[in-house]
Amino acid sequence: MSNQKINLTRRHALAAVPAVLATAGLAACQPKAPAVLNAKKKDIPMADPKNAQPLVIGHRGAPGYLPEHTAPGYDLAIRMGADYIEPDLVFTKDGHLIVRHDHYLSDTTDVADHPEFADRKTVKEGHEGEDWFSEDFTLAEIKTLRATQAFESRSHAADGKFEILTFGEFIAIAQGRTSLLGNPIGIYPETKLPSYFKSLGYDFETAVLDELKKTGWDRPGSPVFIQSFEDGILRSLRQKTELPLIMLLEFADGVDMKDIATYADGIGPYKALLANQDGTSTGFVEAAHKEGLKLHPWTFRSDRLPEVFANAQAEFDFFFDLGVDGVFTDFSNDARAALLARAARSG
Ligand code: G3P
Ligand code: CA
Repeated sequence: MSNQKINLTRRHALAAVPAVLATAGLAACQPKAPAVLNAKKKDIPMADPKNAQPLVIGHRGAPGYLPEHTAPGYDLAIRMGADYIEPDLVFTKDGHLIVRHDHYLSDTTDVADHPEFADRKTVKEGHEGEDWFSEDFTLAEIKTLRATQAFESRSHAADGKFEILTFGEFIAIAQGRTSLLGNPIGIYPETKLPSYFKSLGYDFETAVLDELKKTGWDRPGSPVFIQSFEDGILRSLRQKTELPLIMLLEFADGVDMKDIATYADGIGPYKALLANQDGTSTGFVEAAHKEGLKLHPWTFRSDRLPEVFANAQAEFDFFFDLGVDGVFTDFSNDARAALLARAARSG
């Protein structure tokens, strides 16, 4: 579902957001954004940690600037102020977890430029048209590919330069770094298509938990959230780990917050589920918080702002005011700038 090309297109679309904000005058109120990107750590105003919330989650690294899910992309997201970095995970043929949003490879790698893999192109149920798929490649073969920018309108200057990461390599990046605020960098792995991969004989739960165990981040209190669009794997993981689990939701229909609270610690909703057209809360945030669930909506893209917002800070401020606990963003610098500006305004 969330991995189909048709949905990638949907994610690029503008969210349904309140028209009333178009005249709210928020743009005029925006303080000058801190120069987070280029400043030395000692030059960054050290915000009170409680004002540093909500969490800034570097969605797929820093894909606003560099190809998604790459080491330089994650490094950039950290330098731009991310608290957590997000890898989506799929399997290779030989059972390794690699960091990709989709199991099809054509959108974000140069696989089409590899004649040696031409005969791997195939059709699979649930995917539109022919493509190459991660589960048909060994890790050694995947390592010969290079990442490319998924969005046509973003810079392609780094296409073909960076290799595909394993989950283990990704964790090592996080564990070697601290955030702008001096905290450990956290990780926010998403299990992609767990039922599909289970049907092929791959065990997502064991693979993820084993990798976390190897790195010591299986212990309670580790800076790790595990997320999925499928409740089944989360319900099962609840029996196996105390790490916080996040239920991803694309639609609000039929959502039972009380039930989610039995197996998850939070919800990652499509951001448009949180606000009505008139700028009021849909009640989603309040209902989730009533059940003790954290709320981390997605995806904040400064180059694809809903037109009612004058700039990225206005969009972040709107959702921060709604009470979200974190934001998945392709532009961690803009989320961090918005948070620092809020902290400055509140004194
Ligand atoms: O995992 C949160 C958000 O990333 C969900 O959307 O499709 O980008 O994985 P997607
Ligand atoms: Ca994701």
